[in-house]
Amino acid sequence: MELVPQRASMEPPEDLLREARDAIGKAYAPYSGYRVAAAVRASSGLIYRGVNVENASYGLSMCAERVAIFNAVSSGERNVKEVLVLVESGEPAPPCGACLQVIAEFGDDNTMIYSVSKEGSKVRAWRLSELLPHRFSKEYLRPAGQK
Ligand code: THU
Repeated sequence: MELVPQRASMEPPEDLLREARDAIGKAYAPYSGYRVAAAVRASSGLIYRGVNVENASYGLSMCAERVAIFNAVSSGERNVKEVLVLVESGEPAPPCGACLQVIAEFGDDNTMIYSVSKEGSKVRAWRLSELLPHRFSKEYLRPAGQK
């Protein structure tokens, strides 16, 4: 797949940021205290939100990015164009490896990922191909010769 140049401006899309800011108060993070919200734009143009949801059995905790994507998929979406992550504290962070693999399922190399700190002063942006250059995909599930 051909890579498109990154946007000249790394400014996060305003509408995604507004949705994530609106959602972050709903994060359920009593164990880590690290609240995260995500907003994704699907190919339909609609925006879906998610927050991290932790569990007393720590390993069951779920990241905001996956909640947002699962929300989109539950509404019938199958393609994600942009993902914005909003962290309440600290530096803007890239999505974890598990979330990248889920983004890859519904995005492509050019899917944009923005990370913003709550104050909004710091922003990072990547294409998915930069964060997850090699990934497991449905192509590997096909038996040899049936490409
Ligand atoms: N978390 C996210 O929601 N997204 C990320 O990109 C990184 C981590 C959550 C999972 C857990 O609830 C908390 O942040 C600390 O890892």
